[in-house]
Amino acid sequence: MFGLRLALRVVCSWMDKAKEIKGKLFFLFLTAFVFLLCLAASTPRTLGSVPQPRQASDACPSRTSSQTITPLNGTKHLLVSAYMDRREAGSDVRIIGIFKRDSIQPLHCVFCCAGQLSTTTPGTILQHSDHFGFPYATTDVMCRIPQNCNATHVDLLTQPSSSARPPHRSWLPIGNHKTNEKEEEPEKLRFNFTVCISNLFGGYNNVLQFAQTLEMYRLLGVNRVVIYNTSCGPDLDRLLQGYIQEGFVEAVPWPIDRHLNPSRGWLFSQSGGDVHYFGQLTTLNECVYRSMERSRYVLLNDIDEIITPYRHDTLNALMDALQPQQPNTGVFLIENHIFPKKHFEPSGRFHLPQWNGVPGVNILEHIYREEPDRASYHPHKMIVQPRMVVWTSVHEVLKNYGQRFKVPMDVCRIVHVRNPLRGSLTLEQLKEDKRLWDFQEKLIPRVDQALRRAGLLSTEGRS
Ligand SMILES: *[C@@H]1O[C@H](CO)[C@@H](O)[C@H](O)[C@H]1NC(C)=O
Ligand SMILES: *[C@@H]1O[C@H](CO)[C@@H](O)[C@H](O)[C@H]1NC(C)=O
Ligand SMILES: *[C@@H]1O[C@H](CO)[C@@H](O)[C@H](O)[C@H]1NC(C)=O
Ligand SMILES: *[C@@H]1O[C@H](CO)[C@@H](O)[C@H](O)[C@H]1NC(C)=O
Repeated sequence: MFGLRLALRVVCSWMDKAKEIKGKLFFLFLTAFVFLLCLAASTPRTLGSVPQPRQASDACPSRTSSQTITPLNGTKHLLVSAYMDRREAGSDVRIIGIFKRDSIQPLHCVFCCAGQLSTTTPGTILQHSDHFGFPYATTDVMCRIPQNCNATHVDLLTQPSSSARPPHRSWLPIGNHKTNEKEEEPEKLRFNFTVCISNLFGGYNNVLQFAQTLEMYRLLGVNRVVIYNTSCGPDLDRLLQGYIQEGFVEAVPWPIDRHLNPSRGWLFSQSGGDVHYFGQLTTLNECVYRSMERSRYVLLNDIDEIITPYRHDTLNALMDALQPQQPNTGVFLIENHIFPKKHFEPSGRFHLPQWNGVPGVNILEHIYREEPDRASYHPHKMIVQPRMVVWTSVHEVLKNYGQRFKVPMDVCRIVHVRNPLRGSLTLEQLKEDKRLWDFQEKLIPRVDQALRRAGLLSTEGRS
């Protein structure tokens, strides 16, 4: 999707430049050429029915949104992305947005059909049930594509007019063109496991824990980590740039703070603000849809959480065992277990000198686990099959197909090194849990390598 957007952006900047050139013939030629290129980039199938070049530059996509967050002109709402979704009869495209709950108005979908503007169809506005009281909520608009339209882009209008052609539309490219055409073999998907990390913000600079966690994910068989980035600390930025270049991490710009006053809390009545926790509910859903056509499973957890199999070496082995036992299950709930970072493992064997100058928590040093208080609410995180999810929240899915299954903690649990949740527990009341140590032999050199690549590894000591 980004490749396409980039191509369109490049092409469209050429178009701007072309206008400055005086020679009319050259201009016409270039317009035609550029249009063909646009068309080839968006719909390689329909080269046969090329419309007039002039129409193309008037019609679409004259301007594709290159932003992850696009304000919807004439409303208080924000649009994020659009995906084909034909799982329910009556709609073809799902637009994911962040809508002001008290300002919902009728909206109309307009499509770019291989370079031609479509007539409008009414949009169906569906507000996600979780919003925790905030004025803005994750909201989907479901659209029907008009007949005889090979839709590449979509936008929303406040008026159902097909003739009104505002000069500056911000077309959203439509992703997931294959979904539900022909069910692909899961084995042929590009990724087996994608981790969706929502919302990096502030000066977060917990580099050591971040590097250890990413390398643990990789050892467990994760192929891609998607991170929605509002901002981060300088060392973490350097660490992540290396992971982005090698293709393991996909950083999605998430400048929510330029559009709204995002809350750092999860409950409006406690923290105020416009939207729950930097828009986490939206990014998690966006990530599920982004992964739908390319990943067998998606892990929805935070960056300080590692979904760790306790009886298998990898997530692949875990799911190959679990899925046949739970054939119609698309949502696997994993218990969260807190390892308080205030208690250190006494031998200090993983207090490594080369990590002394690296900011952040060393998860190998924290092996004492809180037993969850089962009398009160015990949060889960999830492994999901993205095609079986419609709406997700943080600890549960809101709408899905198929069954949900609570995975027993002796099979898989989340290793979550952080501040204690049950602070009154003494060290004696915690359980020793050294599961991460089983991976240390491979983990430590890989973490060193990532830190060295970012120029963060201390030269003293072994390296
Ligand atoms: C849309 O694309 C399909 C092939 O993918 C083609 O058969 C069909 O004619 C196209 N329709 C229009 C209206 O261009
Ligand atoms: C927003 O809409 C108004 C009126 O429809 C138009 O004049 C203006 O150019 C639009 N702005 C953008 C950024 O699309
Ligand atoms: C996904 O898992 C299958 C079967 O376990 C394996 O053959 C394949 O190589 C894996 N793909 C990736 C991208 O890791
Ligand atoms: C995260 O976003 C900030 C602010 O836009 C940017 O400066 C930084 O380079 C980004 N980092 C990554 C890894 O994307």
